[in-house]
Amino acid sequence: MQKKVHIKTWGCQMNVYDSARMADVVAPLGFAPTDEAADADLVIFNTCHIREKATEKLFSELGRLRPHQQAKQDAGGRMMVAVAGCVAQAEGAEIQRRAPFVDMVFGPQTYHQLPEMIARVTRGAGAVLNTEFPPEPKFDALPEDRTAPGISAFLSVQEGCDKFCTFCVVPYTRGAEYSRSVQAIVDEAQRLVAAGAREITVLGQNVNAFHGEGPDGTVWGLGRLFHRLAEIDGLQRLRYTTSHPRDMGDDLIAAHRDLPQLMPFLHLPVQSGSDAILEAMNRKHTADDYRRIVDKLRTARPNLALSSDFIVGFPGETDKDFEASLQLIRDVGFAQAYSFKYSRRPGTPAAAMTNQIAEAVKDERLQALQQLLRDQQDAFNRSMIGQTLPVLFDGPSRREGHMYGRTAFMQAVYVEGPARMQGHELPVTITAAGTNSLTGHIAV
Ligand code: SAH
Ligand code: SF4
Ligand code: F3S
Repeated sequence: MQKKVHIKTWGCQMNVYDSARMADVVAPLGFAPTDEAADADLVIFNTCHIREKATEKLFSELGRLRPHQQAKQDAGGRMMVAVAGCVAQAEGAEIQRRAPFVDMVFGPQTYHQLPEMIARVTRGAGAVLNTEFPPEPKFDALPEDRTAPGISAFLSVQEGCDKFCTFCVVPYTRGAEYSRSVQAIVDEAQRLVAAGAREITVLGQNVNAFHGEGPDGTVWGLGRLFHRLAEIDGLQRLRYTTSHPRDMGDDLIAAHRDLPQLMPFLHLPVQSGSDAILEAMNRKHTADDYRRIVDKLRTARPNLALSSDFIVGFPGETDKDFEASLQLIRDVGFAQAYSFKYSRRPGTPAAAMTNQIAEAVKDERLQALQQLLRDQQDAFNRSMIGQTLPVLFDGPSRREGHMYGRTAFMQAVYVEGPARMQGHELPVTITAAGTNSLTGHIAV
């Protein structure tokens, strides 16, 4: 009988990739994906620990699931419950202590061992806790097959982080930097394209720190990897995320000039425009370093659009520091960006700083910063009206008879048209723009 797996994902694109791979790992065991947690035989919560409240959210989600698990058991069946991802890595046994009905807790580095973990639970050999950083990288043990990647697919090439920004949990939950080999990446990219993908977003917590072993035995950086990926027939678009300003090397910048497949959109988190705060964050770059990198990028690719991440209310942030962030935003001009209130993460150096900022101040600053970013995003989107842009169509939109795609700059576009547009890049004349999407018609 066909069994069902339900996977719910929080957090970054790496978690989205991991969730897809977990589905691939359990598929040979007879598990088909379902959107319904209630009747699943296996439920996996793939969690994120980046900001506060993640843990509480997980426990309330587990609480909602428990009656369904019980109902299934009363009916003579079984629902296995697993907590994966960064909360699992950070909280470990604490999760099973607070929610004893959880069968498996495992971190981002061990999900290739899911078949053994499932077998152990099925045998009745007790609950599983697996938060090791195993010496053999999981990528080598993952199945080759990828189920229906879609038009736009993710491909993890690098994991972990050695940067230790003082606010961030990632170095603790994902471990040290590790890059896959070029051959393994190219093979996976080829399989994705064969399965229908036309766009690949190359992923890593610090993707531009990529230093994978090349087929020639030398170490390749991300720029060189893109040159190789650009040779794959049928792969129309390449993107990458997330980058650190310090690793924005000249090779990679040159790739933006030389490779038409590399899209003119870059998510390059800066976090703050104040040098004092950047220093306290251990970012190891100044605001002017960031401005210079952006200048170089725009010299290489004049139409490059930028996205970023900002944190407001980092410990010690003064009004003047905050104003420097606003000034950086005005100077650079962003097509979009994410911004967050600083969130105190236990175990990180910034959590122990004594000059924490009051919640009300954080709220006020976040609002002001987001207003400025929204204005820039609106203006950027409006500047597309009247232009004809190549749009790669991902699939049908929720609106009957409409299709959904993206511009080179990652803007969502809705267009009336037939389903056979899916997977094609077509010219669209933009007629209207909102904060989060564009509309238009196919140019003929
Ligand atoms: N590796 C990426 C992003 C990691 S997390 C990078 O280096 O930029 C994604 C974003 O979450 C970060 O860029 C940061 O803006 C935000 N973030 C991370 N820790 C945070 C914290 N403690 N409080 C608020 N925002 C945080
Ligand atoms: Fe976190 Fe900094 Fe590493 Fe990004 S570079 S994952 S923000 S420690
Ligand atoms: Fe969250 Fe872990 Fe990604 S903490 S942002 S899921 S690396």
